[in-house]
Amino acid sequence: MELKEKIQELKQQIEDFKAKTVEDVEVFRIKFIGSKNQIKDLYKELKAVPLESKKEFGQLINGLKSFAEEKFLFLKQAVGTISQSSNKKQIDFSRPAEEISLGARHPLAIVKNEIIDIFKRIGFVVSEGPEVEDDWHNFSALNFPPEHPARDMQDTFFIEKSDDGDRTNEIALRTHTSSVQVRVMENSTPPIRTISPGRVYRNEAISARAHCFFHQVEGLYIDTDVSFADLKQTLLYFAREMFGEKANIRLRPSYFPFTEPSAEVDVSCTICNAKGCNVCKYTGWLEILGCGMVDPNVLKSANIDPDKYSGFAFGMGIERIAQLKFRVGDLRLYSENDIRFLKQFKSAY
Ligand code: DAH
Repeated sequence: MELKEKIQELKQQIEDFKAKTVEDVEVFRIKFIGSKNQIKDLYKELKAVPLESKKEFGQLINGLKSFAEEKFLFLKQAVGTISQSSNKKQIDFSRPAEEISLGARHPLAIVKNEIIDIFKRIGFVVSEGPEVEDDWHNFSALNFPPEHPARDMQDTFFIEKSDDGDRTNEIALRTHTSSVQVRVMENSTPPIRTISPGRVYRNEAISARAHCFFHQVEGLYIDTDVSFADLKQTLLYFAREMFGEKANIRLRPSYFPFTEPSAEVDVSCTICNAKGCNVCKYTGWLEILGCGMVDPNVLKSANIDPDKYSGFAFGMGIERIAQLKFRVGDLRLYSENDIRFLKQFKSAY
């Protein structure tokens, strides 16, 4: 066969070649592209071609070679061994990695964790209790007498309520985390140093300043010779860790059934540095928690001997601390799940 015919013949074969699978493409590659391909043989024959025709034949074979390469690419694409896009767009491995977008913690979780950390450093351990609570743990063991008006201090969501005034079977959503105090005292022996974070519920109309659920952290310390001075110093330590070393506290006498004496604690206004602003209502002070010495009746309810042991307790609202830390006044924002609000806390911790 003349060289020219051979070229024609191969060209035809290449043109007619059809590939359905990756294996077909491989057959094509071995035949027309690989190291022992048939086009190479044509170059060998070129040596025997008379000088005046060498150029012409050389060009024909070169053309055949490019034709085979183009067809090879086409076949590969057709059976999907390479995708359209990766053929055009090569991966640039030197490009900086794309930013990993982290979520944000909820502001209440941030504050809760910070409160836990602060108390952990002075030996408090975390304890938790149920949100659906019986009357004993939420009220009676905390020295709320059955018909005492103090029960109305907290509007309760009842799950089971008795009509005959017998409170023992009543079940409600806990109105405060003080219920966990009782559970811890019942289940352990002093010394006790615990904080109990959690959600609490009250039957209140939702507004910027009130919500039907919110979060508290309860603190309890019971040992021999625990004094009111210990309580004050612990709370001062907390205030300075939380709001900075310039923070001060003041205690105002108050009333809670489960503590005697009881106090409400204010921290010096962190927003105006106690100079007076609309958040502290120009007093320079902000109320942050309730506290007191655990009432002997409460110790007795949990079988702890009040002649041997004494203790202090305190309870604070997490939303309130978050309001002061993040200047978020409207309570509703915490549970609306508005991403525009939540993502602002990305860098907080
Ligand atoms: N339980 C109280 C409330 O929800 C807060 C509180 C006050 C807790 C005094 C305490 C305490 O442990 O000693 O308003």
